Amino acid sequence: MSKRIVLGVTGSIAAYRAADLASQLTKEGVEIDVVLTDEALRFITALTFHALTRRDVYTRENDGMRDGQPAHISLADRADLVVIAPATAHLIAQYAHGLAPDLLTSLLLATPAPVIIAPAMNGKMWHHAATQDNVNLLSKRGVEFIGPEAGLLACGYEGLGRLWPVAEIAREILARLK
Ligand SMILES: Cc1cc2nc3c(=O)[nH]c(=O)nc-3n(C[C@H](O)[C@H](O)[C@H](O)COP(=O)(O)O)c2cc1C
Repeated sequence: MSKRIVLGVTGSIAAYRAADLASQLTKEGVEIDVVLTDEALRFITALTFHALTRRDVYTRENDGMRDGQPAHISLADRADLVVIAPATAHLIAQYAHGLAPDLLTSLLLATPAPVIIAPAMNGKMWHHAATQDNVNLLSKRGVEFIGPEAGLLACGYEGLGRLWPVAEIAREILARLK
């Protein structure tokens, strides 16, 4: 039976790399429900993911009902795994503190599925005590973090904050789905 994941994409400059992740996983037969935050839509379009996954893509425009249920419950219940890549400092903070103002954050609170987070942000944001406390809180609750890695960041700084290599995130997801 094919496996189904939710891929949450947030408002990071690395959002374009989530398209490659969606493409690689689709080729492996994974059914992907992509959920884009409002801010992610500033960086990449829903159409990109729609074309790559050949499935509906979720934004504020269509976050109402799905299969006779609120979309955040339907997606949360049907997922074998929830992956957030890239995850902003903002998304991590919301999740750590139980804030659920949109589809992605609501389904994170509603899902019984395991959650994997691949952060991407400026190194100073990553090392900030607030972000580190939030990451520790989520890790203690069983959320798995992949990355970030060190390197040249889009903002021009060197540091720890780059999205983990997409092929390795894909490998980790496929291993989890086996
Ligand atoms: C050009 C640009 C790039 C950004 N890149 C990142 C990033 O890589 N990581 C991050 O945590 N925030 C980044 N931000 C800030 C987020 O977009 C902002 O915190 C936003 O509210 C995140 O919303 P979301 O988590 O709901 O998607 C960036 C902002 C801009 C304008």
